[in-house]
Amino acid sequence: MSTSLQEIQAPIAEELIYFEKYFRSAMRSDVALLDKITRYLLKRKGKQMRPMLVLFSADLLGGITPSTYRGAALMELLHTASLIHDDVVDDSDQRRGFFSINALWKNKIAVLVGDFLLSRGLLMALEHDDFLMLKIGSKAVKLISEGELLQMEKARKLNIDEALYLDIITAKTASLFASCCEMGAASATDDPEIIETMRLFGEKVGIAFQIKDDLFDYGTDDVGKPRAIDIKERKLTLPLINVLNQASWGERRKLINIVRRHNTDPKKVQYLIDYVYENGGIDYSTRIMNQYVDEADEILNGFPDSPSRKSLSELMHFAINRKK
Ligand code: IPE
Ligand code: IPE
Ligand code: MG
Ligand code: MG
Repeated sequence: MSTSLQEIQAPIAEELIYFEKYFRSAMRSDVALLDKITRYLLKRKGKQMRPMLVLFSADLLGGITPSTYRGAALMELLHTASLIHDDVVDDSDQRRGFFSINALWKNKIAVLVGDFLLSRGLLMALEHDDFLMLKIGSKAVKLISEGELLQMEKARKLNIDEALYLDIITAKTASLFASCCEMGAASATDDPEIIETMRLFGEKVGIAFQIKDDLFDYGTDDVGKPRAIDIKERKLTLPLINVLNQASWGERRKLINIVRRHNTDPKKVQYLIDYVYENGGIDYSTRIMNQYVDEADEILNGFPDSPSRKSLSELMHFAINRKK
């Protein structure tokens, strides 16, 4: 039922080629080791949802400008840096169907490569005196770091409810989606109200996107990165939070104990996963995810019908139906 990414991209296929040019050139370095790693990264590109959001948001509001391409490249650079650091933080050895940077080159190098990409992105905005872009991008970086740290703090204490979960994913994931739409909009219009509306649209897409990502962790499909890693890292996500809320005192204690003390025992982890399925945790999360998508579609419907409005909606539906 959802359109393929290739079809969604079609209206901006040429623009994406320009974006890629900026992205590639920002990755280049005279340091051989760094150049080798960035070439590795370029070979295994992701879905590029963030640059697409930047470009479509600008297109929706009257046009893609040279600064839109830079905005798209900046956001993909920040995203890539955040993934490299995230895999260090999560101790994850797989990304995009292959080894993560930390798995191949170790944590020390991964941290520095992430820093390099982050600074390249911000410098790219500065080199063109794009201060608004710099502001929007930096805001996202701040929120991503805060979100990841908040998540770590809560993983230690295991006291997280649905509202807090939403706060965490809004910061660590939705902030970047929000910034993409805000940036695309700001490159095409000066109207603060419209820019804020697009920011909010992106935020809702990002929340739905992360709920989907957290559902992958409970699944059995190959998604190109490890599964059941959230429990291993003691991350409580929506499916588990939801069933914990309804569990009896004894069950709750048992489940929390698995996360706390037996999170690497495959049998016990499987018990927890089965419990989540049987008690509606997956269905509940899917429902909440769809609510955010409906709200985002409602925002879009406030804009006149156009090919980019259609693409933005399709991109969002792709995000929640995706297989990886
Ligand atoms: C992964 O994002 C990180 C999350 C916020 C869950 P994507 O799934 O968009 O990553 P790539 O770029 O396509 O690999
Ligand atoms: C999302 O965190 C990624 C960032 C905020 C950088 P996750 O840890 O949930 O994402 P994956 O599953 O590793 O892609
Ligand atoms: Mg991770
Ligand atoms: Mg995850």
